[in-house]
Amino acid sequence: MSNQRLIAPSILAADFTNLKADIEMINKSDADYVHCDVMDGVFVPNISFGIPVISQVSKIAQKPLDVHLMIIDPDRYIKEFAKAGASILTVHLEACKHLHRTIHSIKDEGMRASVCLNPHSPIHFLEDIINDLDMVLLMSVNPGFGGQTFIDNTYNKVHKLKELITAKKSDCKIEIDGGVNYETGKKLFDAGADILVAGSFVFQSENPIETISKLKEL
Ligand code: DX5
Ligand code: ZN
Repeated sequence: MSNQRLIAPSILAADFTNLKADIEMINKSDADYVHCDVMDGVFVPNISFGIPVISQVSKIAQKPLDVHLMIIDPDRYIKEFAKAGASILTVHLEACKHLHRTIHSIKDEGMRASVCLNPHSPIHFLEDIINDLDMVLLMSVNPGFGGQTFIDNTYNKVHKLKELITAKKSDCKIEIDGGVNYETGKKLFDAGADILVAGSFVFQSENPIETISKLKEL
């Protein structure tokens, strides 16, 4: 298990009228993944993009696609996201009735399986599933929109999750999503996070390539 600090720029903050240029920027950068936020307007109060867009993005992206599903009953679309080119597929704990089955369906399609917790969901809900997971995504804002303020309780959750992973001898990675910048990012890496998602902080910066490199070196 490496201690490398990884960055996943979220294309929710990209320029959708010129998405190709933003994917090419990510290709050239030190980023490790392309984070794709799929929203259904039901699980979260926003609608973003879906399978056809991800499928096109996967044709030009040179980094693995880290697909974050903010949709109810994600089981309906697991095969399609695999076909569209997702490498990591994240589902929300709050959106799955039979999480164990969902996780194994994701793995059966050859993807890495990840569960996301909303800010209100406690870490102990993962106790009996942690050994089946490749990654846990902790929301550090309420999902649905970019550019929101980081929720400080996330640091406690990272510590608790790290403890659970160690206690269960799991090699599951920890990813954090929402309100990441240099300040929150440094504290998150120091608390034990492996991967940080960054949307507006990267895409609204003057030099996104440099911002990505600096986030990796925090
Ligand atoms: C929010 C999404 C995030 C979003 C993060 O629901 O899951 O991935 O793009 O945006 P920032 O980094 O701007 O908080
Ligand atoms: Zn996300």
